[in-house]
Amino acid sequence: MASSDEKSNSPIIRFEDVHKRFGPLVVLDGLTLDVFADQTTVVIGPSGVGKSVLLKHIVGLLRPDSGRIYFHESRIDTLGERAFEPIRKRIGFLFQLGALFDSMNVYDNVAFPLRRQGGRSEPQIRDIVHEKLAVVGMDGGENKMPADLSGGQRKRVALARAIAMNPEVILYDEPTTGLDPIRADVINELILKLKEELNVTGVVVTHDMASAFKVADQIVMLFNGQIVARGSADQLRSCPDERVQRFIQGRADSEELKALNRI
Ligand SMILES: Nc1ncnc2c1ncn2[C@@H]1O[C@H](COP(=O)(O)OP(=O)(O)OP(=O)(O)O)[C@@H](O)[C@H]1O
Ligand SMILES: [Mg+2]
Repeated sequence: MASSDEKSNSPIIRFEDVHKRFGPLVVLDGLTLDVFADQTTVVIGPSGVGKSVLLKHIVGLLRPDSGRIYFHESRIDTLGERAFEPIRKRIGFLFQLGALFDSMNVYDNVAFPLRRQGGRSEPQIRDIVHEKLAVVGMDGGENKMPADLSGGQRKRVALARAIAMNPEVILYDEPTTGLDPIRADVINELILKLKEELNVTGVVVTHDMASAFKVADQIVMLFNGQIVARGSADQLRSCPDERVQRFIQGRADSEELKALNRI
């Protein structure tokens, strides 16, 4: 049996020299990245740099123009839609926007992927929905409509839905954005809990450096279509790269300040 160290060293997801452009806009420009099993990898980088695009490649919502993407040892970027379905079932996705179906109550939102998959009775689905809502601290809220929830509660319900199918991997796109620091920390604790108790591999995209430092085993910075820095929270804090330091500290550069003066 592999030791836990060996296990952590094997990438569960691998991007190799991935290129993606939309018309003239180059978004991924030879991106290479390893996401390790049972760890949380945090992807940071400025708005519009391609963080959500990166996540969408992992579940085949977007396909690369060139390069290779692997899940475990299997190449997935070349799979057809039908062949991708079993992979998608193993990966939960907490979307950046519009995470819940507004016309369905909390219960039906969490039950949705289970019903769509089929093969389970309603009592079995009910048990799973209650269990997942309890994991995120939202049990008792089954009958509420999304419009009646706070931003933090909505994120927690969306997370319950993302874990309904017991995924090996969860992709979190800006899980704490728009939340106050306390509610954001509840989400951080949930990310840690899912990793520690259920061995979930996480990929977290965020601008929130407090969240990044708290949940990350590995932080990578995406810039100009490539990973320009990679390391633990401490390694990133002491990284000499000016782009990394400006991002971590939230400092605008002289060009950005000049643009402000033109307003
Ligand atoms: N399907 C698409 N068609 C055309 N352009 C797209 C598409 N998806 C993303 N883009 C463009 O690709 C770039 C990267 O988008 P992406 O959503 O990945 O940014 P991001 O890093 O997630 O930004 P943010 O932090 O603001 O969420 C943007 O310029 C965006 O407009
Ligand atoms: Mg995004």
